[in-house]
Amino acid sequence: MTYAVIMAGGRGERFWPKSKQRCPKQFLRLVEDRTMLQKTASRLEMFLAPENIFVITARDYREIVLEQVPEIPEENLIFEPFGRDTAAAIGLGTIAAKKRDPAGVIIVLPADHYIADERRFCEVLEAAVGAASSGEHAVTIGIRPVRPETGFGYIARGERYRDYNGIPAYRVLGFTEKPDRERALQFLEKGNYLWNSGIFVWRADLIERLIEKHLPALAAGLKEIEESWGTERCGMVLEKVYAGLPKISIDYGVMEKAEGVLVFLGDFGWDDVGSWTALESYKKKDGNGNILEGRGVLVDTENTLVQTTSKVVATLGVKDLIVVEDEGSILICHKKKAQELKKVINALQENG
Ligand code: GDD
Ligand code: MG
Repeated sequence: MTYAVIMAGGRGERFWPKSKQRCPKQFLRLVEDRTMLQKTASRLEMFLAPENIFVITARDYREIVLEQVPEIPEENLIFEPFGRDTAAAIGLGTIAAKKRDPAGVIIVLPADHYIADERRFCEVLEAAVGAASSGEHAVTIGIRPVRPETGFGYIARGERYRDYNGIPAYRVLGFTEKPDRERALQFLEKGNYLWNSGIFVWRADLIERLIEKHLPALAAGLKEIEESWGTERCGMVLEKVYAGLPKISIDYGVMEKAEGVLVFLGDFGWDDVGSWTALESYKKKDGNGNILEGRGVLVDTENTLVQTTSKVVATLGVKDLIVVEDEGSILICHKKKAQELKKVINALQENG
């Protein structure tokens, strides 16, 4: 059987003031009319029953998740008491899937990506499931890089291994999570490097072995949790054990060290939509390059994005700005600085 585990516990704040700790990116309607989590689930529902989809998220997001994906049975929603990054989240998802089928294939994926061609997405994932089903290979989906992004993982693509459903799988020579700019530039020049999409496909028993080998402390904690899974004690054990689990992402913890990994090309139009400026390519601009969503007027204004929820916003004689008003907070940011929004979050935290 094939299962999906959607990781939806990130606390990304790159869309402040819309994304606050209460409502991070995966729960927002950024590009489309449905939220990124809803779109992730509905893409999977093109080839999986909702009963086979799990969502791993933080306890704080329980209400939001219940409301946004009501088609997924409640017992498939797994709530973490604390964020312990993606290796632990994937470990929990694996326990849940394993209880249904110990040798099931699991598709692990982030909840906050935009995919342009959903049909192709399904084809590539089905091929990846085929490649993972023998239990020998961890499978990743790689994206052709278009800039020396330092916020992604990079996959060194080797020779063609074999085709699945007519789609080629390549051997992975190496995996580098979040390189510095210099290395990212080298990877781009080399030509055989792909961005890691953050989507992984593997059999439950394989990822379990990989975690055991590369993250033994996590494996030990997960074992304890697994023993109590489905019993009355489970909540208590989860609370106790989770706090002590190593906080590490699957990319650093497993993918950088794993062998025998295969990669498919994710040629379906993929975007991590990592900042306010990344949103712009999805929106219609007026003749001056402006985007206005909500109520407002943009006079003698150029290349500016304005989003309002409850207030009227007016700009005059400005350019290259991002102006976002939401629930009592207003962001006014130069487009050049959109990647540095974290500075604002930190400053806000410091000032209470
Ligand atoms: N349940 C749970 N718990 N989910 C989490 C947690 C956690 O503690 N931390 C993060 N997530 C979720 C996020 O909500 C997101 O959907 C996904 O896991 C990936 O986490 P990010 O924090 O967004 O990772 P990243 O963007 O820094 O890097 C990953 O994605 C890149 C592509 O977007 C890596 O896999 C990179 O290699 C990759 O290039
Ligand atoms: Mg991300």
